[in-house]
Amino acid sequence: MKGFPKDFLWGGATAANQYEGAWNEGGKGITTADVITSGSHTVPRRVTYKNIKTGETGSMPIFGTGYKFPKDCIPAVIDGEYYPSHVATDFYHRYKEDIAYMGEMGFKTFRLSMNWARIFPNGDDAVPNEEGLKFYDKVFDECAKYGIEPLVTLSHYETPLNLTIKYGGWSNRKCIDFFENYAKTVFKYYEGKVKYWLTFNEINCMEFAPFIAGGLMDPSPQNRAQASHNQFVASAKAVRAAREINSEIKVGQMLAFMPIYPYTCDPYDQLLAMEINQNNMFYADVQTGGYYPAYRLKKYEREGIVLDTEREDFDLIKKYTADFLSFSCYGSITVTTHDDVDKSSGNLMMGIKNPYLETNAWGWATDPACLRIALNTLYDRYRKPLWIVENGIGWDDKKEEDGKIHDTYRIDYLRKNIKSMKDAVTIDGVDLMGYTMWGCIDLVSAGTGEMKKRYGFVYVDRDDKGNGTLERTRKDSFYWYKKVIETNGEDLD
Ligand code: BG6
Repeated sequence: MKGFPKDFLWGGATAANQYEGAWNEGGKGITTADVITSGSHTVPRRVTYKNIKTGETGSMPIFGTGYKFPKDCIPAVIDGEYYPSHVATDFYHRYKEDIAYMGEMGFKTFRLSMNWARIFPNGDDAVPNEEGLKFYDKVFDECAKYGIEPLVTLSHYETPLNLTIKYGGWSNRKCIDFFENYAKTVFKYYEGKVKYWLTFNEINCMEFAPFIAGGLMDPSPQNRAQASHNQFVASAKAVRAAREINSEIKVGQMLAFMPIYPYTCDPYDQLLAMEINQNNMFYADVQTGGYYPAYRLKKYEREGIVLDTEREDFDLIKKYTADFLSFSCYGSITVTTHDDVDKSSGNLMMGIKNPYLETNAWGWATDPACLRIALNTLYDRYRKPLWIVENGIGWDDKKEEDGKIHDTYRIDYLRKNIKSMKDAVTIDGVDLMGYTMWGCIDLVSAGTGEMKKRYGFVYVDRDDKGNGTLERTRKDSFYWYKKVIETNGEDLD
């Protein structure tokens, strides 16, 4: 094959909690994302809580697995705190304008997430919120005007807060049924309008950020393992529902995937890289491969983890695997067993500084080759169609005196990454369905809650404290990406 397939799905990606805003409009319930403050590269984001007996309030860092809610405290929105998800960059009110930008760039697809609490405000409601259903319906109709195929994530780093408070989050098996009902409701409602769905964003992040990924009140290893298992079963049930409703619907897995490099040729560095890689691949082995791998079962045995399962769980997992495997990939992670090396941070997962790679202001390594490596690794292992649903670079873009944003660094990053992806398709024969650049319109950073960590082709006037007009401006990369799409990836200059 000379270039990308004719029907290659070029586009951009977003997530409701980082983009949509309108956190308490249209009958939407509160989610776990709505109780998380902003932070920065050096100051961690916090979850706020209140004591249900005394009314006292407090907060604590929420990334990682070390958080513990004080006795009688539940996550809550507190007066005087700033929560970036509440307004985000206001897609809720500006979806027509934003989708017009996407249309102008020639998007073939738009990845967005549906806010579960907009459809089921408490997660466990008996009937859906009609206003929420109508909102996304209008969004999909708008996409259709431009020939844009939606790719919808059912759960992107937000769980209806009620499910966390009342049930402890995804460690409770009841969430499986609530999610299945949610999936069935939207698959039916949008039948004929939405063909591509993803169940859980970066499902492997339960490993590193269980409040974000699963709304867990208690992040113990036992609960994390159970929560992941419950999400696997829920995903399988969603695939089953889709097949029963309409066989045209395709449900994919979404994995955070960064190739892991050993820092030295010391075999122990290689072993470490292998173990870290297993921690990620496990999630794809189950959801896309259909089986629990031996290395993970042994780990559970060693750690005394016993899953609460039902007889049909493993049959469902085996029978209803994901139709395609999508993943995010921003760069690579380098690890070592050796001391005295430079630290640099990757998203949620830490690594050390790789001397061959450049990093951005947040320490994320830019590594175009890793995209080809990632695509080959995943394709070799599963032989299923792949889809890159996140890739891009966060940068503190500035408006120049001419009122424009000259983001040449972004163009350079994307050019090299797209070239690498093209090599995987044309040289290695990987079956790749599409590419959605992360944060196509500027939105809030998930890791830091900042606005200044921008990814978009379109600049949004808003700062880290919530000031700004929310006005949109095309960046230089906007015109560049338009040309890339027009030429189906042939012209990358
Ligand atoms: C992915 C998430 O991990 O990385 C997105 O799915 C996130 O939600 C993206 O925004 C980029 O990370 P960050 O921290 O720069 O926003």
